[in-house]
Amino acid sequence: MDPIVEVKDLTKKFGDFTAVDKISFSVGKGEIFGFLGPNGAGKSTTIKILCGIMMPTSGEGRVSGYDIITQQNEIKNVIGYMSQRFSLYEDLTIRENLEFFGSIYGLEGRTIRDGIKKVAALAGIEKRRDDLVRNLPAGIKQRLALGAAILHDPPILFLDEPTSGVDPLMRRNFWEIIYRFSEEGRTIFVTTHYMDEAEHCNRIALIISGEIIALDSPDALKKDFPYRVYSIATKDFIGAFKKIRGLDFVIEAAIFGSDIHILCEGGSRIRKRIDSFFRESGFHPYRINAVMPSLEDVFVSSARRFNL
Ligand SMILES: Nc1ncnc2c1ncn2[C@@H]1O[C@H](COP(=O)(O)OP(=O)(O)OP(=O)(O)O)[C@@H](O)[C@H]1O
Ligand SMILES: [Mg+2]
Repeated sequence: MDPIVEVKDLTKKFGDFTAVDKISFSVGKGEIFGFLGPNGAGKSTTIKILCGIMMPTSGEGRVSGYDIITQQNEIKNVIGYMSQRFSLYEDLTIRENLEFFGSIYGLEGRTIRDGIKKVAALAGIEKRRDDLVRNLPAGIKQRLALGAAILHDPPILFLDEPTSGVDPLMRRNFWEIIYRFSEEGRTIFVTTHYMDEAEHCNRIALIISGEIIALDSPDALKKDFPYRVYSIATKDFIGAFKKIRGLDFVIEAAIFGSDIHILCEGGSRIRKRIDSFFRESGFHPYRINAVMPSLEDVFVSSARRFNL
């Protein structure tokens, strides 16, 4: 792997509080790398440090070959960054916004005209380029903010919860744009707390309370999952759910449509114990299937192990 981001023992403290706690990882060129974690996990803090906006308390790192402590300005010039609370100029049009952001990056003349054409096409906003931003729906604003972040054609793009608050359809649409950008050989570093979004990444780091507790591809994380997940169908699934969630071998129970999903310790006798529960408690007929854990299962149980 040819790394474009390398971080070692990165730590950020705010007073006595440790927001990022000795994290180490690297991101390969061309990867879509995700940071998945709940509110307050330290995702935005990490991204700000990597973008040269914030100084770490300790640790070291490089982005595109530049040192995160001594070369923050160089980093700012070679990255694209879409912040969690991005701002656009509401009283300017799409084109005027792009012209403005381009000028911040020192783009002018033909370069900026060509850049705007390219990102407007990529983001699918060219038809509305003369519309005032204030009249645009949230999904289009989001695509414009993405366009503004890649106008100077950066080799690496940092996206901090880019699709929070938009509907699943818009989210999928936004990811298609990210894939197209990634196909050009660009690296994407994205934070999220949406599981479906994390599934789009080549690799993800689970971050909780400032610590990386797991890091791998979504498939590998599911494969290494130490628990078993079963899907159970029975007529009175609500009644069965109420009882089964209280059993000592059931770590987590949830209703999925009209099925019950349970998460159990990985022991070999678990299947038999579920069977005898159903036989003895009179929920008939019933059907038990072992299912692949979802990323949500992995995440919820990992968080649980960290008492969250
Ligand atoms: N400037 C600051 N001063 C003090 N505490 C801060 C500061 N910035 C962040 N924190 C705290 O550090 C922790 C991590 O914050 P951060 O914004 O990195 O979390 P996050 O993972 O991005 O969460 P969210 O999903 O809510 O955006 C939080 O507890 C937050 O309150
Ligand atoms: Mg954040």
